[in-house]
Amino acid sequence: MGNSISRRSLLKRGAILAGGLPFAGSLLDKVQASPLIAKASPADMRYSMPEVWTEREIALGAPVPLKARLFANENPFGPSDKAKKAIEEALPMSYQYPFRSMGSLVDKIAAFEKVDSSSILMASGSSPLLMAAALYYGKPGSNVITGDPSYSDLPSKAERMGCKWIKVPVTADYKLDLDAMEKAIDANTGLVYICNPNNPTATVLDNVKLRAFVERVSKKVMVFVDEAYIDYLDDPQGTTLIPMASSNPNIIVARTFSKLYGFAGLRIGYVVTHPDTIKKLSLYTEASMSISAPTLDAAIASYQDREFLDGALKKTNASKAYLYEVLKKEGYTYVPSSTNFVLFPIKMEGKQFTDEMMKRGVGVRFWKFNNTDFCRVSIGRMDEMEAFAAAFKELS
Ligand SMILES: Cc1ncc(COP(=O)(O)O)c(C=O)c1O
Repeated sequence: MGNSISRRSLLKRGAILAGGLPFAGSLLDKVQASPLIAKASPADMRYSMPEVWTEREIALGAPVPLKARLFANENPFGPSDKAKKAIEEALPMSYQYPFRSMGSLVDKIAAFEKVDSSSILMASGSSPLLMAAALYYGKPGSNVITGDPSYSDLPSKAERMGCKWIKVPVTADYKLDLDAMEKAIDANTGLVYICNPNNPTATVLDNVKLRAFVERVSKKVMVFVDEAYIDYLDDPQGTTLIPMASSNPNIIVARTFSKLYGFAGLRIGYVVTHPDTIKKLSLYTEASMSISAPTLDAAIASYQDREFLDGALKKTNASKAYLYEVLKKEGYTYVPSSTNFVLFPIKMEGKQFTDEMMKRGVGVRFWKFNNTDFCRVSIGRMDEMEAFAAAFKELS
């Protein structure tokens, strides 16, 4: 872990904090099971959100138990009851490799999206597939073009491998600047990454304009369209570029169960693209063999479960409306959101703001662009939004 504290030493610290006892092997299980660790282990926080917990804060002592986990755009209303039941039922057979269920899920998705099963590649979340695309299309000497700010996972991995990351600022209304992104393409461009809706701005592109862009640009380079948040839109089926991707080797559409389906911890996602492109991506990912059998069964049981999805959307929208009111009342503006998170400009330095919020048990993230500090707050349960409001009022 480089200069960071090892997991073992963090657990040891947790043990001392939990009971004032010296670390002993037999204590490990108790420490891991302790509510303090389960709620807000600094080790877990560090793994996922390095800027939320710094080395210094970990050294200072026990983490604040989180009242509101609003930093990872998860869906606290999921997974659905059908998914949970499927997991319970799948457990006894979990000694078997997951071949059994894989085809069923792919066929279900293919039937719903009206594409051939051969154009779908599943993995344990969309992240391994973003990684595969980064490795194949972001080779050293090439470049990857993204919006700025946008989701950094794919380009940052490509950059680590020696690829150049070209960042194109978003427009004044916080949307990806498609014209400028197209102009940035050169002979070395390996991939253009379009996050729609975009994380962290929560904006969605004009669909006609996006389709025309993808049609044109895919004649020159690979276009990767990340639709992680598309399920939050009013018309995902009318918005998705899956129909374009299934027959075009230069378009990849990524989808995930991590957001509206509430599967972030279960891990399942997929891409849709031409089978030739699937062969290329498959060189760089374990793909479906990385998915657990219970997760597969849970995904089959809850895929397109409208009752659950609509319920989660309704609760998300109620929490979002509440958040908008809080921000307006405190004299803040925000970027109207098409997703389960909201970006808004803050009046404090970003790191200081997230630190102060964290001290009050509320985890959020910050961005800095256009010489402005922004907070990105995920939409959680109403009690989490109320905790956000109480902490925010103390700072605003
Ligand atoms: C835009 C975007 N794409 C992909 C992911 C990764 O999702 P997964 O959990 O499927 O790996 C995220 C996660 O936050 C995201 O925001």
